[in-house]
Amino acid sequence: MTRGRFITFEGGEGAGKSTQLRRLAARLEGQGREVVATREPGGSPGAESIRDLVLRGSADRWSPVTETLLMYAARRDHIERVIRPALARGAWVICDRFADSTRAYQGAAGGTDPGLISALESFIVEDTRPDLTLMFDLPAEVGLARAEARAGSEMRFESKGLAFHQRLRKAFQTIAAAEPDRCATIDAAASIEAVEAAVWAAVEARLPAHA
Ligand SMILES: Nc1ncnc2c1ncn2[C@@H]1O[C@H](COP(=O)(O)OP(=O)(O)O)[C@@H](O)[C@H]1O
Ligand SMILES: [Mg+2]
Repeated sequence: MTRGRFITFEGGEGAGKSTQLRRLAARLEGQGREVVATREPGGSPGAESIRDLVLRGSADRWSPVTETLLMYAARRDHIERVIRPALARGAWVICDRFADSTRAYQGAAGGTDPGLISALESFIVEDTRPDLTLMFDLPAEVGLARAEARAGSEMRFESKGLAFHQRLRKAFQTIAAAEPDRCATIDAAASIEAVEAAVWAAVEARLPAHA
């Protein structure tokens, strides 16, 4: 059986990733595919426990380096128990955040040494790399306003302030520019329907073998 496809959704808070992930999952399922819609941090029982540690509490609960290690512990469990088995049986895995979020949140915006992050990425992710990454781009203040309206208890990163979120946006833009074959930038300031159309256009253009 051929390996499935691995698509990741990246970008700042309130960019519309979770909204669009549900829509893409429905479209792909409508084509008769097995879809595994998942998220990080989390996606497996162990990784969801780590998610609670990382996303709740005060902004300074963890240092960026500790946070990086927690994220990678969670990611490894998710990869081993969910992502790799799904890809091996031919499913399409669509994941709300992945390794680029660690590069951006703990690295570029948080200050963790990028050398540590790239070493972890190569040892932990290995060959489980996304076939396509959708980069949801919008001004940080717009995303934060959307996320605030949504609210909830997982607010640790939202509480880090506008300058942090502006660094994040720049970090995701830098990744997209450096890896254009993997990354497609999506204008996330558009309407939900327009963003959905852009996501579908990117999937059809970048992963034409899905037909
Ligand atoms: N294109 C859009 N325009 C306006 N509001 C949106 C759009 N996409 C999502 N939203 C709303 O913004 C909030 C955050 O969306 P969400 O999908 O949870 O973002 P993310 O997962 O990227 O943080 C939700 O209330 C959602 O309904
Ligand atoms: Mg979300």
